[in-house]
Amino acid sequence: MGFLVDLICTRTGKAYPKDQLWNLSPEANAPLFARYDLDAAAKAMRREKLAGRPPTMWRYAEVLPVEDAQFQVSLGEGFTPLLQAASLGRKIGVPHLYIKDEGLNPTGSFKARGMSAAISRAAELGASAIAIPSAGNAGGATAAYAARAGLPAHIFMPKDVPRANYIECKVLGAHVELVDGLISDCGKIVASRKETEGWFDISTLKEPYRVEGKKTMGYELAEQFDWKLPDVAIYPTGGGTGLIGMWKAFDEMERMGWIGPERPRMISVQAAGCAPIVRAYRAGEAQAEPWRDAETVAAGLRVPAAVGDFLMLKAIRESGGCALSVTDEELMAATSQLAAAVGSFPAPEGAATLAALEKLIARNLIDERDRVVLFNTGTGLKYIELF
Ligand SMILES: Cc1ncc(COP(=O)(O)O)c(C=O)c1O
Repeated sequence: MGFLVDLICTRTGKAYPKDQLWNLSPEANAPLFARYDLDAAAKAMRREKLAGRPPTMWRYAEVLPVEDAQFQVSLGEGFTPLLQAASLGRKIGVPHLYIKDEGLNPTGSFKARGMSAAISRAAELGASAIAIPSAGNAGGATAAYAARAGLPAHIFMPKDVPRANYIECKVLGAHVELVDGLISDCGKIVASRKETEGWFDISTLKEPYRVEGKKTMGYELAEQFDWKLPDVAIYPTGGGTGLIGMWKAFDEMERMGWIGPERPRMISVQAAGCAPIVRAYRAGEAQAEPWRDAETVAAGLRVPAAVGDFLMLKAIRESGGCALSVTDEELMAATSQLAAAVGSFPAPEGAATLAALEKLIARNLIDERDRVVLFNTGTGLKYIELF
């Protein structure tokens, strides 16, 4: 059913066969991207006919990696609401304001999309166990989709991870270890043990398919805006798969004749206490130096180094967007402001986008006619100890 052709190294362009499990490309240690036969996909999946398909991300199955539908591991992820936030928008000077509410996904965050795609494909290719370092929500999603697939999951989290994420992983039957360190330290443990333990490593962008699940946010954005993408997309970035995935989705949709060449300005938001992408963006660098002593209450933004840094920076610049940071005080204030104005309790990472928008407006970087989308990447219910 799928139209996956092969995998392409994002640094060298070298192709890899699709029928085996891959992590980073062996020759360049870079993320691999799935390549599809988009001409054939466009014939099989007509944009006018999408309305009759199930309201999950699997409505775009032709551009997702699973080849045999029996391997789709789904809990109903995707096709989340695009909430109009006109009164909040009018108040701050952007009347055409929308919230893409990813908190409604299974396990309460956009991580469900990536895990649905990655764990489906890992199961299809015969993985026997999976392992992941997680700042919180990715762990919960891994535990849920691994349980659904019947695969053992080994999850390594910083010891100060939101308690809800830890409990969720345990209750869902995953093996969880709390680590005295950051997500990067958790990643090192996975890397050092995976060979001997027989785990397939599903760290952000170290396997090719989480980004495929995340890219469906880009497809949905186009569909929900009636195939005219918004002017500005503001996105909280740690590892950056959402931003990178949407950028890939826009390219695929243009190749399929679904959209034109217009793109939203992609805005990356980070926390002031951990902002490697913002620093690299400002310095004009193509890659980001790891951030030392990362600290923020927004657990998902506590990512000091990202393997996809160069892909994020490229997408931000090509789109005419930018990267900026907000303080913990600003993002926490925005959490209450967004919740009360919209009626949905956002994760602090998601609310950071509102704090960023207010800064962009103050700097005259947003026009009042712009259609602006804030990505609320998760539910605030997992962070109640912050309130
Ligand atoms: C709610 C939330 N938002 C944003 C992020 C950052 O996501 P990414 O690492 O894909 O950039 C995370 C990651 O844990 C998260 O949990």
